[in-house]
Amino acid sequence: MHQENVLQKSIAFIKETLAGAEGGHDWQHISRVWNTAKYIAGYEKSDQFIVELGALFHDIADSKFHSGDESIGPKIALKFLLSIEVDEPAIDHVIKIIENISFKGGNELLTFKSPELDIVQDADRLDAMGAIGIARTFSYGGFLNREIYNPDIPPNLQMTREEYKKSAAPVINHFYEKLLLLKDRMNTGKGRELAIERHDFMEQFLAQFYREVGKEVSW
Ligand code: ADP
Ligand code: NI
Repeated sequence: MHQENVLQKSIAFIKETLAGAEGGHDWQHISRVWNTAKYIAGYEKSDQFIVELGALFHDIADSKFHSGDESIGPKIALKFLLSIEVDEPAIDHVIKIIENISFKGGNELLTFKSPELDIVQDADRLDAMGAIGIARTFSYGGFLNREIYNPDIPPNLQMTREEYKKSAAPVINHFYEKLLLLKDRMNTGKGRELAIERHDFMEQFLAQFYREVGKEVSW
């Protein structure tokens, strides 16, 4: 099947699969990551088709919404891409992107590395930052009925992957446990550049937040 056709069929499948998803992990998130990934790919030597498919399928079944099961996303992508007869090396690469993109505390060694994964991961991380990142974080916190802020529960910066996945901390803590760490973990030059403005905006948001709750930033 022609690449453009594969992308069109994939988009239709993903929109259908993600209908009714939580507001931070819906088709709009995928669409933003896809666009940002294409933009970054314009500055990096990479296979654009793999970048696009990786971005489109990266959250096809996020383990957070499937009882922690990390094998469902890769399985769904594999089944669909085989059904539309995408080449096996391309499918293999897309599956590796889905398996390796997630932050999950960020303290794990990566098992797979490629320019295409670097690009999609940067695009996904950028969507976790800035105004959109803030909105998504509160959307997810609301979805889980989390506290917004609790001055008695400090962030935990030393979480293992399991602790991170199980964490029920207030939403503000997520800024310290993940969002503010992303700027220094970007893979590409363009990603690093785009991260600066979004990082600064989150810092401004937090400063204003603490002014309004009448508290010094203590962590
Ligand atoms: P992970 O951090 O598990 O790799 P994602 O990249 O899918 O997960 O996270 C996407 C977004 O979901 C985060 O940037 C954030 O907005 C929201 N999110 C994930 N975990 C939490 C959490 N514990 N508290 C608040 N928001 C969260
Ligand atoms: Ni994502």
